[in-house]
Amino acid sequence: MPDRFTILVTGGAGYIGSHAVWALKDTGWPVAVIDNLTTGFRWAVPDDVPFYKGNVEDSTLIAKIAKKQNIGAIMHFAGSVVVPESVENPLKYYDNNTAKSRSLIESAVANGIKHFIFSSTAATYGIPEESPVTEDTAQVPINPYGMSKLMTEYMLRDVSAAHDLNFCALRYFNVAGADPGGRTGQSTAGATHLIKVAVEAALGKRDSVAIFGTDYDTPDGTGVRDYIHVSDLAAAHVHALEALVAEPERNHLLNCGYGRGFSVLEVLDAVDRVTNQKISRKLEGRRAGDPDSLISDNRAIMKRFPWQPQNADLDKIVAHALAWERKLGDIRIE
Ligand code: UFG
Repeated sequence: MPDRFTILVTGGAGYIGSHAVWALKDTGWPVAVIDNLTTGFRWAVPDDVPFYKGNVEDSTLIAKIAKKQNIGAIMHFAGSVVVPESVENPLKYYDNNTAKSRSLIESAVANGIKHFIFSSTAATYGIPEESPVTEDTAQVPINPYGMSKLMTEYMLRDVSAAHDLNFCALRYFNVAGADPGGRTGQSTAGATHLIKVAVEAALGKRDSVAIFGTDYDTPDGTGVRDYIHVSDLAAAHVHALEALVAEPERNHLLNCGYGRGFSVLEVLDAVDRVTNQKISRKLEGRRAGDPDSLISDNRAIMKRFPWQPQNADLDKIVAHALAWERKLGDIRIE
């Protein structure tokens, strides 16, 4: 059993970060959170977790937290995640996702923090030449969001070669769902992600769901994605942490998905099935930059970590997203 140092979770008040905080707590790892609450919520962080409102590029604050909380690893979720926004405002993405990560990595080195887990993305592959996508598939991002994350992968690679730090970059596919126990979920307003949008429609929070394109090169013509339950993704981070601690010389660059895809129509059918009603669908044209199909080859992560997904079921993902969406009705989003 390694020393139980504390894990600093950046963006721990956000969607994926708050699930990681619970996953760490559930497995007995001490955890602390830093979040500037731009898109996250203070209530998403459990009361007994030390919370710092601040910015990851604030090196004085990181040094203070590192010392006070005995930080031994960082899970870095803080960042910006909206692809179209990254096209309109690339400098925001190169600042939030690249420059601020650079500063945080520098703080890790300066404070003797030896392990770094980074939220990367399938968007680093752009429109992949092959499907399923392996970790060796060429990374050719087609938007600033993907590029801003890829640059951070490169920084981690170079820094780990020069300093006493190892890292794991997890390349997320389409993250959805919510904590099965209803402790946290996706709460930021103005969602654009399919499952969130669809459950909002099912609960009457919007009138209909747009289907962006029906002429893709897929079995039913709509886009195919590899939807992964956020709690399984959070569990993968705990395995990543334990692997980094167990083998300090080794880095990991791994896809995080289930290795199978569902089309937009299949997702909407699942929402209808789970809610026992029919949401209104509107056929629209393609959205710029959407690949036909994006499915992970997940053999590497399955082999590397003892990761056993617990929620690899589309109806379950939808049911948990729906339960959280219902609960959000009572929670004030401010
Ligand atoms: N879609 C619709 N209607 C909607 C929303 C989405 O038809 O209202 C379609 C999209 O065209 C796509 C699929 O549903 O075919 C999934 O779209 P999402 O917006 O839910 O997710 P993306 O695949 O576009 O992007 C997600 C994350 C990115 C990440 C990418 C990598 O949002 O951050 O996965 O896989 F980079």
